[in-house]
Amino acid sequence: MINVNENYLKLQAGYLFPEIGRRVRAFAAANPDAAIIKLGIGDVTEPLAPAVIEAMHNAVDEMSRAESFRGYDGDGVGYEFLRNAIVENDFRSRGVDLDISEVFASDGAKCDTGNFQEIFALGNIVAVTDPVYPVYVDTNVMAGRTGVGVGSGGYEGIVYMPCTAENGFVPDLPDQDVDMIYLCFPNNPTGAVATKEQLKKWVDYARRRKAIILFDAAYEAFISDADLPHSIYEIEGAKEVAVEFRSFSKTAGFTGVRFGYTVVPKELKAYNADGSVADVNALWNRRQCTKFNGVSYITQVGAAAVYSADGKRQIQQTIDLYMSNAAAMRNSLEKLGYTVYGGINAPYIWLRTPDGVDSWKFFDLLLEKANVVGTPGAGFGAAGEGYFRLSAFNDPKKVAEAMDRLAKI
Ligand code: MLT
Repeated sequence: MINVNENYLKLQAGYLFPEIGRRVRAFAAANPDAAIIKLGIGDVTEPLAPAVIEAMHNAVDEMSRAESFRGYDGDGVGYEFLRNAIVENDFRSRGVDLDISEVFASDGAKCDTGNFQEIFALGNIVAVTDPVYPVYVDTNVMAGRTGVGVGSGGYEGIVYMPCTAENGFVPDLPDQDVDMIYLCFPNNPTGAVATKEQLKKWVDYARRRKAIILFDAAYEAFISDADLPHSIYEIEGAKEVAVEFRSFSKTAGFTGVRFGYTVVPKELKAYNADGSVADVNALWNRRQCTKFNGVSYITQVGAAAVYSADGKRQIQQTIDLYMSNAAAMRNSLEKLGYTVYGGINAPYIWLRTPDGVDSWKFFDLLLEKANVVGTPGAGFGAAGEGYFRLSAFNDPKKVAEAMDRLAKI
């Protein structure tokens, strides 16, 4: 008899975004004339940068000729030309020295943030922020690192660190020992960004406690404040205790192309049961070589073009467009009397629902009365209740139209 992995049965709800998609499709089917504006899932709308397109076209041509054709990408961790560009542009430019053997190319940060937990023991205590990107929690549930679900959507065994307006949506250190700490800055969903001082507290905690920080920096390209850190490795000692995940999805419009990478420093420490130091870089390499066959050559050439002079300029223009949407949204929402957070160094606006109305009710209200889709805060955790997330990824005209419609309800 084939038995299922019963940890999957602990999962309390469908994955958030398919659930939203299901509700929106049902509404659209019942209201075929509704011109729905989607500010829900953070999916980009602007086309790929011309420099990326040109590079990918050339790569397709290379693949068409026997002499320049490429098959598997060696160990599947990314071509050197791309990992060199990553190390140079994303890290050395910010004073962080990395070797390319510490960079692992992948098909996106969602997969890497979900998969990384596999190389750690099931007995580790996981700490997440609340609200949180659901992937960190659900993948630990699937792995069996938690107990059953509790009423508010959380799980026994996970340490939830509330992120509230009072703490600026940056969590305080937990009052119990934890081993695997998921942090995401700029934050999805709240749009908050941790300062160097705030991250230092976490790095110091992890060093003291011999814990690991799984740092999701998928939205770092949206930081405009020069004092804010883009990488956790800007904090002294972080290489000993942190893995960092990066994504090209929002930065370079790769949601449909798929590219991201994970940094696993050689200095990073985790421990064997006997207390001896284990080599996390080697373990992740082993995991990737076994379960992943690399990113397509065409995608990697496109990703490298993001670091060309034209690519950088073009990508910045698109980021500026999305961030001007965010500024316009903040402005309109504040005028309408909403309490608004985020949207300054991150592409997400996190607003309080009016009169504390339930966030799924607010979702339905916006969909029905304004035909605007957002994301209910409760979908990100118990502390997200009473909040609502709007994404700045859309055409500026549609964003303006969405704000006009909100003004009318
Ligand atoms: C979001 O809307 O939270 C993101 O698009 C989800 C993701 O990147 O997987």
